[in-house]
Amino acid sequence: MKNFISVHDIVTDANSNTGAAIDALVAKALAYKANPFADRKLGADKRIGLLFLNPSLRTRLSTQVAAANLGMEAIVFNVDKEGWAMEFEEGAIMSGNTVEHVKDAAPILGHYFDVLCIRAFPSLKNKADDYSEEVMNAFIKFAGVPIVSLESSTLHPLQSLADIITIKEHCINLPPSGNGNIKIVLTWAPHIKPLPQCVPNSTAQWINAWGKAEFIITHPKHYELDTQFTQNATIMHNQNEALKNANFVYVKNWSTFKDYGKIYTNDPAWMLTEEKLQLTNNAKVMHCLPVRRNVELSDEILDGPNSLVTTQAANRVWAAQVVLSEILKNGAPVPQMGLSPIP
Ligand code: CP
Repeated sequence: MKNFISVHDIVTDANSNTGAAIDALVAKALAYKANPFADRKLGADKRIGLLFLNPSLRTRLSTQVAAANLGMEAIVFNVDKEGWAMEFEEGAIMSGNTVEHVKDAAPILGHYFDVLCIRAFPSLKNKADDYSEEVMNAFIKFAGVPIVSLESSTLHPLQSLADIITIKEHCINLPPSGNGNIKIVLTWAPHIKPLPQCVPNSTAQWINAWGKAEFIITHPKHYELDTQFTQNATIMHNQNEALKNANFVYVKNWSTFKDYGKIYTNDPAWMLTEEKLQLTNNAKVMHCLPVRRNVELSDEILDGPNSLVTTQAANRVWAAQVVLSEILKNGAPVPQMGLSPIP
């Protein structure tokens, strides 16, 4: 693995299939869960930089823990609070608020770190810029070291890997449904703010690539996601119908994709409740967190026996650890510090 931006990065052999690659990665992640320090020397003398252009709790800390388990030193930089305002536009005339171009900053970071991890949310104002992944692609282009997404404009791959780890852990003894696979329902939920589509896009991308589940997406009209991620998933606007016989229900708000970044409805009837859970096959309930309690999900569900939210967040460590491990095993380039002086 060279970079980790989307599910496509886990397939290193052109002949291998993505579902099998996901299963292999999950197996390695679960081996780390059973034995966190199995590769504690792998990252010795390696340094990982974690750049946050947006806030985080789980991603930041789980990646730091994962790096420490591999013997790496992690350095966190909250660019949004402590750094110079960064410019990403090619050819920009920087007479406004931005102070430093990514072209100048990224190569320097590539000198400091063996692996660079970036969190950069979408603006939700300019769909073309957001969906071109200009921030993540700029770091890939200019840093010269492997780049790991800590959530980008369109995807959250470490979350999705942790989610599939969690689903696989809970698949034992589940009765088959529908087409003989497990049934996973991704449901839209209300929220007070327009949120990115990253988590639902990424959930759809990974579940589709995994290919082991009947996959339904349910949302109000006009909340269609980008079809490059949803592909052949069944889309339903009737949440109650969609929930029938589900084994897993993934709850998440997102803003509109077509008329980009808008809230068309906040209908509280879309909040998952205990009553709605009765429609499912005693489904496990998932959410990436942070969650707005009693807006997106009711207390009774979050505090009840079907909630997997803490397990998902805990599994973020093993998702990050296996990704960093694969990058290190692939031979992260040696930083050029001292060999190629920064002018
Ligand atoms: N799920 C998730 O990415 O959490 P944080 O935003 O706290 O990192």
